[in-house]
Amino acid sequence: MDIQGLAKEVLASIGGAQNVVSDEICMTRLRLVLADVSKVDETRIDSLRGVLGTSRRGDSGLEIVFGPRTVERTFRAFESLRRQKPSAKGPDDEAVAQPAEKGVPAPAATHAIRHRAEPQDRMSESDVDTLKSLLGDIAGDAATEGPRLLVVNGPNLNMLGIREPSLYGSTTYSELVERCQRTARACGFVECRCYQSNHEGDLVDEIQRAWKTFDGIVLNPAAYTHTSVALLDALKAVAIPTVEVHITKVDEREDFRQVSYVREACFETIAGEGIEGYEHAIRDLARKVLR
Ligand code: DQA
Repeated sequence: MDIQGLAKEVLASIGGAQNVVSDEICMTRLRLVLADVSKVDETRIDSLRGVLGTSRRGDSGLEIVFGPRTVERTFRAFESLRRQKPSAKGPDDEAVAQPAEKGVPAPAATHAIRHRAEPQDRMSESDVDTLKSLLGDIAGDAATEGPRLLVVNGPNLNMLGIREPSLYGSTTYSELVERCQRTARACGFVECRCYQSNHEGDLVDEIQRAWKTFDGIVLNPAAYTHTSVALLDALKAVAIPTVEVHITKVDEREDFRQVSYVREACFETIAGEGIEGYEHAIRDLARKVLR
């Protein structure tokens, strides 16, 4: 999707131009204040290529995280869409256009828009973490041609570094993302999207979205390994070469961890190599996909 398309999708997913009270850029985020946050479709926003995440801010704020290169261009496209007069819209704008609503402020006329980060917007530690993990996204952002890698992590893997360190180690999830992106780039992938969710359906959605978009998948389904036929079916449906990864030696753990539903749809399983297992999987996928 090009930047114009991305901006249109973002605008449509937040309830259209008349729902935007104000917008600004903060670091790699588009920071929005909305008239009615219930109109936000976060699942749709999260599914957009170029969007790395969303977070709520207070009662009416929403932040959408982009890669460092994407944010400025998306903001400019978003701004010009917001300011378009309804009469000027063409057929393509249908997805963005919304019927006018009573009591909702007109965005451009009544609200000042700040384009620059203010002093109080100095980077917090979490912004620094986000930026660090996103820097690896630059290559994928700029390059459009070439093999793309999707790394999917299931429930509780966002707690890496905190969660049972004697089993899972001290590496955090954002460090894992950084390492995957570095390895993927070194192996020749032009994009490495890292996705984590605690929800089975979201993981299924993400795998489905990979169809015709990604060339290889590294998947640690975590606890869903041992229960999810839905994940197995999603992998079979998209038929993308996939490596199953487990940080621990699942085969040597409890009986209930001895079953893996997804294994049938994966060409390899790597278990017990810690975080390095992801890098091993990326190298093996590169050999298979880039041949
Ligand atoms: C895991 C093993 C699973 O049994 C467990 O539920 C996880 C992580 C691993 O990486 O070792 O959450 O997939």
